[in-house]
Amino acid sequence: MITIKDADGFAKMRTASRVVAEVLTALRKAAEPGVTMNDLDQIAAAIIRDGGCTPSFLGYHGYPATICTSPNNVIVHGIPDGYTLKDGDILSVDVGAIFEGYHGDAARTLPIGDVPDEVAKLIRATEESMEAGIEQVKAGARIGDIGAAVQQVAEGAGFSVVREYVGHGIGKQMHEEPQIPNYGEAGKGMKLKEGMAICIEPMVNMGDWRTELQDDGWTVTTADGSLSAHFENTIAITPSGVEVMTREG
Ligand code: MF3
Ligand code: CO
Repeated sequence: MITIKDADGFAKMRTASRVVAEVLTALRKAAEPGVTMNDLDQIAAAIIRDGGCTPSFLGYHGYPATICTSPNNVIVHGIPDGYTLKDGDILSVDVGAIFEGYHGDAARTLPIGDVPDEVAKLIRATEESMEAGIEQVKAGARIGDIGAAVQQVAEGAGFSVVREYVGHGIGKQMHEEPQIPNYGEAGKGMKLKEGMAICIEPMVNMGDWRTELQDDGWTVTTADGSLSAHFENTIAITPSGVEVMTREG
């Protein structure tokens, strides 16, 4: 079920989302060669706690950490471990927080040191595809408008869009209806309306779109071993307009 938010719900989502954005900014600064995934998880945990929030991923269906860290060919849901970043890696970080029962959720892919031009292009195209999706959001728009816009940008840049994992509604739960696919047809699907909030989160692969779930039951990699990027924001349709709540300051 999608929660229709009132001013109080949106205010709480805004607080959760601001803390998520603060974590993303801190991770952007901290993620450099020599740093481990566990180091980043600890940094995130401290900021979420100091911000008066709780981490939404920890314990979610048994998930064992505060954030997801997904390097290189890992698409999403990588579990922080001792992996040490090296120059030329890319790293997707995904962060969720709860404030007084309301959620914020966002992700970024970070280049570590110097990455080849084609890899920088993958990251840029993924972020631009998310922004194209966000531009579609307004009361009366349809879910298919978002997916079509995301897909056009990502595929137009020569990359492929992951099908098995999609965006979602957000509010009192991290994952609410409706699903927000990163592909589809404009004019199709449910209509958005005021009071809703959604996460738009394209996962874009350099090679084939197919995925593979690893034996830990969480880590999702590209089937062909190619690199993958992931961007996500929490976006609300409030009475005063569309608000991207997890933008970094
Ligand atoms: N942030 C992810 C999403 O956007 C969910 C993370 S899964 C968890 O849907 F298990 F880590 F919580
Ligand atoms: Co999400």
